[in-house]
Amino acid sequence: MNYENITSSTFNGITTIKIDRPKKLNALNKATIEELHNAFNDANNSKDTKVIILTGSGEKAFVAGADISEFADFSVEEGGKLAAQGQNLLFNFVENLSTPVIAAVNGFALGGGLELAMACHFRVASNNAKMGLPETSLGVIPGYGGTQRLPQLVGKGRAMEMIMTAGMIDAAQALHYGLVNHVTEQDELIEFCEKIANKIMRNSSVAIAEAIRAINANYKDGINGYDVEIEAFGNCFGTEDFTEGTTAFLEKRKAEFTGK
Ligand code: COA
Repeated sequence: MNYENITSSTFNGITTIKIDRPKKLNALNKATIEELHNAFNDANNSKDTKVIILTGSGEKAFVAGADISEFADFSVEEGGKLAAQGQNLLFNFVENLSTPVIAAVNGFALGGGLELAMACHFRVASNNAKMGLPETSLGVIPGYGGTQRLPQLVGKGRAMEMIMTAGMIDAAQALHYGLVNHVTEQDELIEFCEKIANKIMRNSSVAIAEAIRAINANYKDGINGYDVEIEAFGNCFGTEDFTEGTTAFLEKRKAEFTGK
């Protein structure tokens, strides 16, 4: 599919989706959010994609936030709609994909940019990355899940401080907070993420999909994560990958998973 604001390419099981508006520091306008939804949906449904890496174009930014020029004159209703549509189409959508999504945070990840990185399953940052939720400096609050996912990842007190001060933290601080799992040199970021992706790809994709579902259940209101885990655990016993994985172990050979 041809996109105007992003690129998507697949090689050796990894689909790399790149937000490609470098002159606007990859800010998320409506069209970009729609294109990202389509690219994630296609990758998640493709048998060629085992892991998705999301990154930003250029050396400066992952995503510098929602496109402020698009919502500066919005009403109360339009503001609420903007958040609801974005959450449905992109942020919740990415979080609930059955294909692992790694955010490769290659520079500024601000506002909607950090919220998008947080919606991914985990994050790796280059050492030039800067992260923050500056919305209160614009007279608004994070609307793409930031008030929920930031406390989940870094704890309530740190999230409160970051949102109230609207400040940025650097990659080392983000690592210390547990907001990112690893920090790399700038030019090694994608290669590092690909190495993790290759480790993931050795394992059963159908089991990984069940694991994502069970882990996410912990963060959903009204759902008992332990019950979801029990059901997901049971489901694995009906898969070819389970038979293959356990048989390969007992036969002392490497498992050849089919993802079925
Ligand atoms: N929405 C729309 N445009 C944005 C943007 C955003 N969130 N972030 C950056 N841009 C645009 C700038 O307007 C500028 O466009 P122009 O060249 O047409 O004027 C271009 O991207 C480059 O940004 P600039 O501010 O000149 O770069 P900088 O290096 O001086 O500063 C930042 C970088 C990230 C500190 C600064 O761009 C910034 O604060 N951006 C907004 C961050 C934010 O508040 N995000 C949350 C939105 S809810």
